[in-house]
Parts: sequence; structure tokens; C-alpha cells
Amino acid sequence: MSVVEANASAIARAARLLREGGIVAFPTETVYGLGADARNADALRRMYAMKGRPADHPVIVHVDGLESAQAWSSQMPEGACALARAFWPGPLTLIVPRAHDVLDAITGGQPSVGLRAPAHPVAHALLAAFGGGIAAPSANRFGHVSPTTARHVADDLGDAVGLILDGGPCAVGIESTIVAFTTDTPMLLRPGGVPVEAIASVLGQAPIARAATAPRASGTLASHYAPRTPASLVAPDALIAELGQLEERDERVAVLAVTARRPDSFDGVWIGAPADATMYARLLYANLRTLDAADADAILIEQVPQTSAWRAVGDRLARATSGETDDRD
Ligand code: TXA
Ligand code: MG
Repeated sequence: MSVVEANASAIARAARLLREGGIVAFPTETVYGLGADARNADALRRMYAMKGRPADHPVIVHVDGLESAQAWSSQMPEGACALARAFWPGPLTLIVPRAHDVLDAITGGQPSVGLRAPAHPVAHALLAAFGGGIAAPSANRFGHVSPTTARHVADDLGDAVGLILDGGPCAVGIESTIVAFTTDTPMLLRPGGVPVEAIASVLGQAPIARAATAPRASGTLASHYAPRTPASLVAPDALIAELGQLEERDERVAVLAVTARRPDSFDGVWIGAPADATMYARLLYANLRTLDAADADAILIEQVPQTSAWRAVGDRLARATSGETDDRD
């Protein structure tokens, strides 16, 4: 079994593997990452193949802070530096102009590169022991739900990964917020662990919404983060009626509720999720996996409040229930 507790000797072994061109899964505060040496084209090819992701998708380079980030960018915009100072290490990815020597396998051939300094102590220790940038997408197979435990990584990628560092469940539970500095005004490519309001207050302006011409980010396509069982979002007060209709048609249903109460007669999988957005996000992907494993015909997910605190969760739920399957990361 390739899952090992992320103690000092396992982290040293992981750093050695990365230097040799190997692939290592490691915890971050958002989700687990599938890491490769960001300067090694062969390692990147292997990482993409393992994930089953097309080779022209850009991948985030993980660094240990703003100073290291400078080596990956031709010029870090002032706003990006301000966000890095405010939120790094943490769940924020900055898309900035690439340095000339960044591999196309990192940027997807685009003129920009994505950079993030993760806060998880294991990620931090791994970056320190490795001494360079670690390219890492979420450690799921392309199109599957992101992993928030080492077990999720093993279930999805199995023995393909040389080493899976187990650092416990991820505290944030959904991916980083992505802000691009490739247009005059900063652009929000993906809501995530850092609230948009906090970003706006550092920048002195709200990042603009993602445009159709925005740099390619497969994480922004509607189809991702989806369970395989058909899933739909239902208003809190409509959930019980909808459940009744499905049961009348003899469909087995799995439910992710917040306020709705489980009917006594219901004998399927029913998850009562926390009513706090931070706690809800922490458990979201594990909950989607549980629902998907329930062997149900349909998944019903109670709609969450449409307030700013729930924005990133609402984004992931919309994707999980979009029903499209053309492109995922
Ligand atoms: O929280 C996270 O961001 C996690 C952890 C492991 O750090 N990583 C993650 O990576 O979610 P991934 O590859 O699953 O999603 C990153 C998204 C992708 O949609 C990718 O297309 C986009 O970031 N991205 C990366 N570099 C980019 C660039 N230069 N321009 C536009 N989008 C970029
Ligand atoms: Mg991903």
C-alpha cells in the first residue's frame, strides 16, 4: 500500500522521489494534490497520464512563498503581490505572466502561470525538503470528485501513485480561489477557499467575473466535480415532495440535506450536512463520494443559501449537478 503517514522520513522520501522524476500525492489545506517536479517535462507527462488529463491543460505550481513565486513570473503585478502577502500561505492561486523558462506542460502553452503557496504543514515541509516548485492538480482522476483524504486518493488512483502522504482530512475541503492578473482588471476564475470579499478589500476593487475569453481553466467548465449518479439541486421546501415523487417511481434516492428532515419512511442514504458554510465545504467531497457509493438511481442535493459565505460551495454544487460530461479536471 502506498499510503504512508506524513512523518519526517516519509516527507524526505517524497522529496527524493520528486527529484528522481516520481509522482507523489500530498495533502494541502484545500484538497490533496498530485505532485511532480515542475521543471521536469517527463515527470509532468507521467503525472498527466496518471490523472487521465489532456496534456494541454495548465497546472498550478506550488511554491513556498512570494519570494519563490517571483522565479516563475516575468513580472508579478502589484495586485498579485498584495494578495500573496495577505493570503499566502493559503487557499489562493494567482494567475500571472509566466517567466520565459516555464515549461509549456505547466502553462498549457498560455502566456500565464498559476502559482500557489499552500498552508498545510506537510505541503510546506515537502516544498522545503524538495527545494523547488511542485506542479500539482487535484489528485483525482480527470472528471472525478476531488480528494480530501489520503484514502480518497488511493481509491481513485490506486497503486499508480508511488507515494501518498497521509496528512489527515483537508481543513478547507474545496479548491483554492483563482484570481487572474492577465487583463487590466483582476478576474475571478474560480471561487474557493478565500472569500471574494476578502480579495476585493485587499485589491480595493472586486475582481471581475470570468469572461468567455478568459484563460483556459478546465476547473471552470460546468461539468466538473461531478458524482457519476445523476444529481440534482432542489430548493429546501421542495425536497421532500421531490423525494416522494422519485420513490413513487421506485427510484432509489440518496440525499444531501441541510435543513430538510429525513422522513421516517425513508430507508436510503441520507446525509444531514452542517448549516455552516465552512463546515459544509470541509465535508462536501467526502459526502459526494458517500452519495455516489450509495448505489442510488438519483442524488438529491438541498440548495444552499445564495449568500456570499456559500458562494464557493454553491459553485461546486452547480457543477456537480450540471449533467454535462464533456470536459473535467
Ligand atoms: O486548491 C487547489 O487549487 C488544488 C490544490 C492541490 O492546490 N489544486 C487544484 O488544481 O485544484 P486543479 O488542476 O485541479 O485545478 C486548477 C485549475 C485548473 O482548472 C486549471 O485549468 C487552472 O487552475 N489553471 C492553472 N494554471 C492556469 C493558468 N495559467 N491559466 C488559467 N487557468 C489555470
Ligand atoms: Mg481538480
